[in-house]
Amino acid sequence: MTTRTAHHAARALADPATYTDESALHAGLARLRAEAPVSWVDVPDYRPFWVISRHQDVMAIERANMTFTNWPRPVLFTEAADQLSEAGIIRTLIHMDDPQHRVVRAIAADWFGPKEMRAMRARIDELAHRFVDTMAAAGPECDFVREVAVNYPLYVILSLLGLPESDFPRMLTLTQELFGGDDAELQRGEALEDQTAALLDMFEYFNALTRARREHPTGDLASAIANARIDGEPLSDVETASYYAIIATAGHDTTSATIAGGLHALLQHPDQRERLRDDPGLLPSATEEMIRWVTPVKAFMRTAIVDTTVRGVPVAAGESLLLSYPSANRDEEIFVDPFRFDVGRSPNKHLAFGFGVHFCLGAALARLEVSSFFRELLPRLDAIEATGSAEYIATTFVGGLKHLPVRYSMR
Ligand code: HEM
Repeated sequence: MTTRTAHHAARALADPATYTDESALHAGLARLRAEAPVSWVDVPDYRPFWVISRHQDVMAIERANMTFTNWPRPVLFTEAADQLSEAGIIRTLIHMDDPQHRVVRAIAADWFGPKEMRAMRARIDELAHRFVDTMAAAGPECDFVREVAVNYPLYVILSLLGLPESDFPRMLTLTQELFGGDDAELQRGEALEDQTAALLDMFEYFNALTRARREHPTGDLASAIANARIDGEPLSDVETASYYAIIATAGHDTTSATIAGGLHALLQHPDQRERLRDDPGLLPSATEEMIRWVTPVKAFMRTAIVDTTVRGVPVAAGESLLLSYPSANRDEEIFVDPFRFDVGRSPNKHLAFGFGVHFCLGAALARLEVSSFFRELLPRLDAIEATGSAEYIATTFVGGLKHLPVRYSMR
């Protein structure tokens, strides 16, 4: 990210390549927070938007969900992709506002609550154990992202949905084609049509799933969604497939990125690795710190529906605002020494899961996955070092490491 001016730093947030250089990214965001915390961006291919970079403002906007809505622009896409989204090719929780959002969210909410998480704990621990074994077997060297981190959360979320393991590889490819949308290495092809094709393939698979679960409910989350009724009516095919899609995709790359970025942080801060290994009681705060440190969701957006102000800056009805979570999570006004990775950090009021009515549905699941994995890994890891440079995905939405080559010895 060029940091010549705050204005450049704001414009760079529409460029997927910006997120491939973390130190330049954070230098630019620090500059934005200090000099232009509410910045107007108007760049080719995108509808213009405000960049919101301070923690306090991100929270206040998310809290005011009747003034700042998710519809019609929840995510920073190009204008062409915005048009497809507005045409309704996909309609998920993040495209909805209350009161509809509340009703649709309630369909899956219990599946992510404390009772279900306690029930999932054994399956998650078993999968964590299996993927730490995979890492041990792949040693003494592997690309931790490709061989371990991308698979484990996918297995967890697809198990919760109720899909058979034989279908997992196909879902892995499809979710990466969708979310790695701007990164040439992960893309199916260059054009928007290729991403749309990936979405349609996924929907074809999900429509078959809906039919199967309506005919024979199997007591899993997919059955609960397929057979849900709102005012006596089932969800439409697009709504049902969109629901599966958001759970499969949101529950996957975000957590993979946290685990990969979490290990990377422990490699760069060996004192913190030793501290955590010697005191597993720190796992909950270490998990929270990894999530803050990585902040895999780079932004969500809101649109003002009335004329209003943010930090004294006038925002007109119809204008969109990009909420920069990586920036909020390094805000010097909120975090003591925000650029220090501290596995014991407390308090840690990060916004990586968002805030308010859209607060991440899978937050408890994500926390469980991250802590199970490191609880399993750290006691078995005798030594580990990076053998090449860590590379990041080019994206403006959900991202993190694409490659993390490591050498290690394990028990
Ligand atoms: C929403 C982050 C893992 C499912 C969100 C939002 C963020 C987020 C920032 C938007 C919140 C807002 O607008 O205020 C993360 C991070 C994760 C993670 C950082 C991992 C570390 C998961 C998992 C699931 C999941 C494991 C499992 C299903 C969802 C869903 C929504 C959501 C369904 C939409 C909620 C709504 O609009 O009501 N997440 N997420 N996420 N997340 Fe996550």
